[in-house]
Amino acid sequence: MTVSKTFTKTESKSPLLVGAFIDEEVRIDPEIDGEINALVSEKLLDFKTGKVNKLYTFGKIPNQIIYIIGLGNKADYGYEALEECLAGVDYRLGKELIVDFDSFLGELEPGEVARRFVKAVADNNYVYDELKSEKTDNELDLKFDTEHEIEQAIEEAFNLSTAVANTRDLVNKPYNRLSAAELAEYAANLAESLADERVSWKILGKNEIKALGMNAFLGVNKGSDAEPKLIHLQYKGSDGEAIGLVGKGIMYDTGGYSLKTNMINMKSDMAGAAAALGAFEAAVKNNLKVNLQVVICATDNRVDGKALLPDDVLTAMNKKTIEIISTDGEGRLTLADAVCFAQKEGCKTVVDIATLTGACVVALGNHVTGLFGNCDEEVEKIMAASRKANEELWRLPINKSIREQVRSSRVADLKNSTGRAMGASGAAAFIEEFIESNTKWLHLDIAGTAFRTEPKHRYGGTGVPVNTLYHYLKDNESE
Ligand code: BES
Ligand code: MG
Ligand code: ZN
Repeated sequence: MTVSKTFTKTESKSPLLVGAFIDEEVRIDPEIDGEINALVSEKLLDFKTGKVNKLYTFGKIPNQIIYIIGLGNKADYGYEALEECLAGVDYRLGKELIVDFDSFLGELEPGEVARRFVKAVADNNYVYDELKSEKTDNELDLKFDTEHEIEQAIEEAFNLSTAVANTRDLVNKPYNRLSAAELAEYAANLAESLADERVSWKILGKNEIKALGMNAFLGVNKGSDAEPKLIHLQYKGSDGEAIGLVGKGIMYDTGGYSLKTNMINMKSDMAGAAAALGAFEAAVKNNLKVNLQVVICATDNRVDGKALLPDDVLTAMNKKTIEIISTDGEGRLTLADAVCFAQKEGCKTVVDIATLTGACVVALGNHVTGLFGNCDEEVEKIMAASRKANEELWRLPINKSIREQVRSSRVADLKNSTGRAMGASGAAAFIEEFIESNTKWLHLDIAGTAFRTEPKHRYGGTGVPVNTLYHYLKDNESE
């Protein structure tokens, strides 16, 4: 998809995209307004939120087609409504669309309308077809017709949308196309391609991971014949305190010896890692003034004769010992070492993103991400960011009783599973054990929100919560 701004109504024959409120007269071009408003009074056009009305213009104006997009009632119109209104806008309407930008403004601010517009259409326009013989031609050139200054907003949103699409691609790739080594290669190429001297990267292999004492991470990898990789990216966009994005990078979650009976879609268990990389890409491309790191402990947990077993005890990087109750609680094992590594590398704020628990899906479903944190102020910041991103978050508790359960092992310091009850909190309380007292920590459980199976045409990785992370970073920019 490409996006640009044109100052004057172009002479193009391409379709014109116009927004219209239910309770307002349509004004597009004097040549055609009378007839359109006549259709409106005969109730032949529908301006309910998201409706796409297709009109042919028969030479009255250069554009052969007008799509009038329903914006609903003006009183209910806002940025979220705008995103909803655009649900039907994608390459299927034409290769080039001329957007009558001002018709989508209502009382809203042009820059933000431009950002939301680009975001929504790019999201709709995404197709994952790299492994299909027949490709979808989803080329789309959006041209905004307006005199408002929206170039910068367009560019920012376009960079962010590209990062989200890359995140979705990573999540959609099956394991046999994306191993830990391949994700590491992707991350290194991304860091290189950003061509920014403030960006640096390091990939650690098994021996270096061993030398760091990251035995919780290594335990998950024990049964796999693929090497684990620690991915570490840095972006010194400011001299402020470092923020670490720690993404769960389980390239495939079989469950290990606590084998999953249904592991379909567990290729997406690296969605946290993919989101961290997406947020990093967007932050660098948009030149955010932040000091940012990404840490990913990437591995799969396939099994052989050397694989981790329930009852085994692992010693994490911070020397805490962990009794394995279920090898399927693998994400928290890798995250334990990953957050230790991030803090050792100087991160004063750690945000981990993980497809961590089925319990979170039971509690919050597929549209709300579970949020945990040890600092109310930081929690409020990311909640505010999620509202700008139009991605829902809901805070869940970590309390004394769940902490006691995490510490109730009879043979080790910690247990890697506290069972079904309060499962999302149990996982969060486990990770909290590896957070130092002066570290601000946020934990996003995206088990329900990172991947969708419905509706069919939107199947796959969602890119959640890249938009939230991006806005959170932007709100943390140093002056
Ligand atoms: N990757 C899963 C969680 C998950 C479930 C992600 C559904 C996406 C959709 C995680 O590693 C896992 O297996 N969690 C267990 C934890 C249990 C063993 C303590 C779970 O949720 O059952
Ligand atoms: Mg698991
Ligand atoms: Zn998992």
